[in-house]
Amino acid sequence: MALAHGLIVGAGEGAGGEHIPVLLAEVLAAARVWGGQRWVDGTFGRGGHSRALLERGALVLGLDQDSAAAEAARALEARWPETFRWKQRNFRELKTCVTEHGWDRVDGVLLDLGVSSPQFESPARGFSFRAEGPLDMRMDTRGGQTAADLVNELSEEELSKLFYEHGGEREARRVVRAIAARRRRAPFRTTTDLAAVVAEALPRRRAGGIHPATKVFQALRIAVNREEEALLAALPQAVEIMNPGAVLAVISFHSGEDRVVKQFMREHSAEWLDTPARPNTVPNLHRHLLPPKRYLPGEEEIERNPRARSARLRVAIRNEEDLS
Ligand SMILES: C[S@@+](CC[C@H](N)C(=O)[O-])C[C@H]1O[C@@H](n2cnc3c(N)ncnc32)[C@H](O)[C@@H]1O
Repeated sequence: MALAHGLIVGAGEGAGGEHIPVLLAEVLAAARVWGGQRWVDGTFGRGGHSRALLERGALVLGLDQDSAAAEAARALEARWPETFRWKQRNFRELKTCVTEHGWDRVDGVLLDLGVSSPQFESPARGFSFRAEGPLDMRMDTRGGQTAADLVNELSEEELSKLFYEHGGEREARRVVRAIAARRRRAPFRTTTDLAAVVAEALPRRRAGGIHPATKVFQALRIAVNREEEALLAALPQAVEIMNPGAVLAVISFHSGEDRVVKQFMREHSAEWLDTPARPNTVPNLHRHLLPPKRYLPGEEEIERNPRARSARLRVAIRNEEDLS
């Protein structure tokens, strides 16, 4: 599991406090953006990637499920009134959003997954174990269960599965026993409250390395925001709305989501698919994408923005001809 000091975030701050979108140069080089292209930025955040696309003359539809993205979006709408629109929407409704915008096909879809630095760093949002805040973690605060709801209400079995599958926490059962004992006395309400119980359950982890609660917090965030579900829903929709030659670019920050992207791109680009018994034996009738490429941040980017360390970009181009 790739964890950058427990900070699973998609953008950082430069020395001057300016926003640094992750793997921007790689996205732009792989995407060959030109004027008039139609792009969907499904994870607008503070608009670092959108801005770069707009500066190259693209038309951009920005989506973000978090209302906190609105301020940056309004600024871009004021600067590029003809070519930029933002909507507070979940990218799992990608195709509907594009249709409602009056587009049928697009030339590029960008997903820069995970949480943004402002989300992560705001204690009131409850994403970080470093500062006390409500145990919330919802990107879209208009509804849905909070992290506290999950921690206090899921069965011990469900919590163990969640911590193991989404966090890669090998000592999930030990952690859950400690959580269960504590919640019988009083429900969890704050980030630091949960972090302290997890740290106490995993005393050997305290020396060096990542914080003992990193994996538990990551797993809860993924579950609260149904991140895997949204990604699995969005990828086929992206392929459906892409013009021939259009670009699908996805930046992920942990191995679970990268695996989903890798597998999806492989299933839509490989000439042959595996059967349970033998590899590469069945012709692939859904070859919508050219073989994908993977990009990692260079040393220089990691030095400038340590949070880019765990980022992986996968880019695939839509086939010129539809083979299905
Ligand atoms: C890593 S940040 C994106 C940063 C952005 N590329 C930039 O340059 O500012 C991820 C953003 O995607 C949003 N997000 C995550 N999952 C989403 C989803 N399923 N639908 C819409 N927005 C989502 C988060 O709220 C967050 O603002």
